Amino acid sequence: MILIAPSILSANFARLGEDIQAVERAGADWLHIDVMDGHFVPNLTIGPQVVADICGITGLFLDVHLMIDRPEQLIPAFVEAGADLVTVHVEACRHLHRVVTMVKELGCQVGVSLNPATSEQLLEPILPELDLVLVMSVNPGFGGQRFIPGVLPKIKRVKAMIEHHRPACYLEVDGGINAQTGQDVVKAGCNVLVAGSYVFNHNSVAEAINSLKLLRA
Ligand code: DX5
Ligand code: ZN
Repeated sequence: MILIAPSILSANFARLGEDIQAVERAGADWLHIDVMDGHFVPNLTIGPQVVADICGITGLFLDVHLMIDRPEQLIPAFVEAGADLVTVHVEACRHLHRVVTMVKELGCQVGVSLNPATSEQLLEPILPELDLVLVMSVNPGFGGQRFIPGVLPKIKRVKAMIEHHRPACYLEVDGGINAQTGQDVVKAGCNVLVAGSYVFNHNSVAEAINSLKLLRA
């Protein structure tokens, strides 16, 4: 089964609660929350207080994608705010195993993300510990960018690694996902689709979400 995680980066932040409830009613499975610090990526978004407020208005599973340097400094606050799963970037962690262990010890599910130019080999030692691998299919920082097709072979390789080391681990793909690119990544082995601009800029969020839910490997 494919899970759909709309990214609120493309929602209207002046009416964030309504936009979130609209995707929840439309059948979203998770809510993808992009946290950016202006250092790891050239953009700024939201902090733990916003996650706490979101937690108060939705029952959706909160999938928090940390695009920040030194994530260990803020992880406790995001878990306290209600994150169900916290994903950190391999490129942002000097001691990845320590950071992954920290998230787990706080009682939260944990993911690790790879930028488009980062090799999946870096995951191998840590994969048995993970609940999710997030393969970026754009360079993180902004919504509405074009999908990078060169990541498809990597998604296939990550899928094979997951099958071998940790079959229960989710394989999420984020960036430039629509019904066409979504089909390609689902065929490559992805089972959690993040979609921001495709969902929130569509004239019907329900139609957009349904078109992704219909995808089959
Ligand atoms: C990009 C973020 C994505 C972004 C995806 O840095 O991690 O989650 O919101 O947006 P779309 O689906 O528009 O590429
Ligand atoms: Zn994201």
